[in-house]
Amino acid sequence: MANLTTRFFGLELKSPVIAASSSMTGNLEQIKKIAKAGAGAVVLKSIFEEEIYHQLQEELSLRSEMHSDPEYLDYFDYVIKDETLKKYVQLVAAAKKTVDIPVIASINCISSGDWTLFAKKLEDAGADALELNLFVMPSDAGKSSECNEQFYFQTIKKVKEKVNIPVAIKISHYFSNLARISGELSETGIAGISLFNRFITPDIDIDTQKVVSTNVLSQANEYLLPLRWTGILSGQVKCDLAATTGIHSAETAIKFLLAGASAVQVASVLYTEGVEAITTMNKGIAEWMDKNNYQKIDDFKGSLSMANAGNAGAFERVQFMKYFGGKEF
Ligand SMILES: Cc1cc2nc3c(=O)[nH]c(=O)nc-3n(C[C@H](O)[C@H](O)[C@H](O)COP(=O)(O)O)c2cc1C
Repeated sequence: MANLTTRFFGLELKSPVIAASSSMTGNLEQIKKIAKAGAGAVVLKSIFEEEIYHQLQEELSLRSEMHSDPEYLDYFDYVIKDETLKKYVQLVAAAKKTVDIPVIASINCISSGDWTLFAKKLEDAGADALELNLFVMPSDAGKSSECNEQFYFQTIKKVKEKVNIPVAIKISHYFSNLARISGELSETGIAGISLFNRFITPDIDIDTQKVVSTNVLSQANEYLLPLRWTGILSGQVKCDLAATTGIHSAETAIKFLLAGASAVQVASVLYTEGVEAITTMNKGIAEWMDKNNYQKIDDFKGSLSMANAGNAGAFERVQFMKYFGGKEF
């Protein structure tokens, strides 16, 4: 029988299928079901930087007469008063006590501010690793790409100074040179990169003539963009890769492992098919491995990556040259 063990975020996982951060992973009952269904790990619903800031600002204003430096809180074991933060720390601790799979805390960040102090509280609560969901929408034409990129490096540095557990990042594809930045980020000592964060995308309702949000859940064909980049990056970066977006089946998960991912993160399929989708994916991966005489994930992981298969053309080709040549498609 195939062995589904894999290493990701510096952790040993019994399956490469991870429950991605979502409202499903924000309560203990669901987390128990996810673990029972066979997930390799669970990434908890993110706490947002703004939520953390709120408390820290209050804390700092209380102490401002004595200490104006926010780093002062580093030396002061402040008590969490804010209910949202308290509940999040409690969720980490309760999940750790209840399930036997790694529990990964998650923070959504848009700046490298003083909120990073809170990361330590998550480590103290027992989190096995921390995933930072980092994003700057490069929509400000007045900001250079270097300036946007600095946020990623500064945030990782500040968080890594606070904690000893593995720190991984979840990024989007909105970079002008994704291969270079991913390589440089992987050299900061992070344990992994999750490709790619998925966003609610704007649409326009022509009846109301308003901009509306759409596509909360992914479609099964959305995996192609992260698949291309997993194949391109897996031989180039100095940390593990996990894939996320559009992974709804064992077949798609296997493609990512072949492209070089160590794990896949799933969210939408848990909403559409229930947590049992994880069991089905594990079964499908194991059956495919047995059929192909693979005993463990490492036997085939990355075998079709750009670096290993010598197929740069397949991953880099983007134009429809042959179709413009008059052929049918
Ligand atoms: C309802 C919902 C809530 C989500 N909340 C978060 C979140 O708090 N933090 C985060 O990093 N990603 C969040 N995500 C993104 C997922 O973790 C995942 O990366 C993304 O949905 C792509 O995977 P999928 O195609 O399997 O849904 C959320 C996704 C959904 C559908």
